[in-house]
Amino acid sequence: MRVLSGIQPSGSLHLGNFFGMMKKMIDYQQQEELFCFIANYHAMTSLLDGKTLAKGTLEAAANFLALGLDPEKSVFWVQSDVPEVQELAWILSNFTPMGLLERCHSYKDKVAQGISPNHGLFAYPVLMTADILLFQSDRVPVGKDQKQHLEVARDIAIKYNNHYGEVFTVPEPEIDNDVATVPGLDGRKMSKSYGNTIDLFLDEKPLRKQIMRIVTDPTPVEEAKDPDSCNIFQIYRLFLNETGTAELRKRYQTPGLRYGDVKQELFETVRDFFAPYTERRKELLADPDGLRKTLARGAEKARYVANKTMRKVRQKGGLTY
Ligand code: ADP
Ligand code: TRP
Repeated sequence: MRVLSGIQPSGSLHLGNFFGMMKKMIDYQQQEELFCFIANYHAMTSLLDGKTLAKGTLEAAANFLALGLDPEKSVFWVQSDVPEVQELAWILSNFTPMGLLERCHSYKDKVAQGISPNHGLFAYPVLMTADILLFQSDRVPVGKDQKQHLEVARDIAIKYNNHYGEVFTVPEPEIDNDVATVPGLDGRKMSKSYGNTIDLFLDEKPLRKQIMRIVTDPTPVEEAKDPDSCNIFQIYRLFLNETGTAELRKRYQTPGLRYGDVKQELFETVRDFFAPYTERRKELLADPDGLRKTLARGAEKARYVANKTMRKVRQKGGLTY
């Protein structure tokens, strides 16, 4: 089964990104044929500073590779290195009713926020559809926020296939409701936009500072505490197995637990868990040409598959004559 997903190169990463998405993607490569790309064209809808985008793209590559994505086992590339995706997006535009795009929440939300929408933002789901169909993807794991875009992709694939015959695999979304939302320092969803994150790849000092900012309730030390409503517990448990979680729960229920001590333990746990990845990331970033080579090999593999699809698409559409 072919699993595909794209990730925007959007700067720093946090525990929510890691447990909610990246770890899952990386685990896929063990059983499935994984296609994973850095969606730099999509990132342009919110980032038009060229230098920042270029830097973010290399960093995103280093992040994934450091965390264990194996470019030999999977196909890993940068979206713009396979420009066929733009050709396909244009062709698919002709199978995309305006109303379908006008109904998209992410577009409507931006308009409602008063952002003056441009065509890139409007056509975003068509490019995303092209990403998916170009590689004949069977499954696309995405967060809840992307569910509607997957429905658009399926609609367009079906419309196209009805017109020209079965060319595209109609993709199945995979929206994992098991992946609980990782809470942030204040208990709301951990998110860059809330400024409540614990970031990956930090040095010790800033990492400790973030963890010490976790909001706790004022239950006195000598009283038992409720683990389920505690932000430290909810984050800490991501790093613990069943026995570890049960033990921590017991400590909460026993008077005498100090939140400061648990924060310190959590800090040490997060630091030690990510230390080897942080080291590997540093090495990767110290050799940008090595990263570029890895990405170029990935693009070559991706382009081979893309061109197989495009030969059919061009022929069906009368673009070869
Ligand atoms: P942010 O909210 O920080 O801007 P993004 O929207 O860039 O995060 O997140 C990229 C992906 O990471 C999401 O589609 C989702 O799968 C995952 N993700 C982000 N935050 C969380 C979270 N708090 N809990 C679980 N998954 C998350
Ligand atoms: N829109 C996705 C996001 O912001 C990224 C993305 C682009 C994507 N193309 C894709 C995800 C294709 C899955 C499949 O998260």
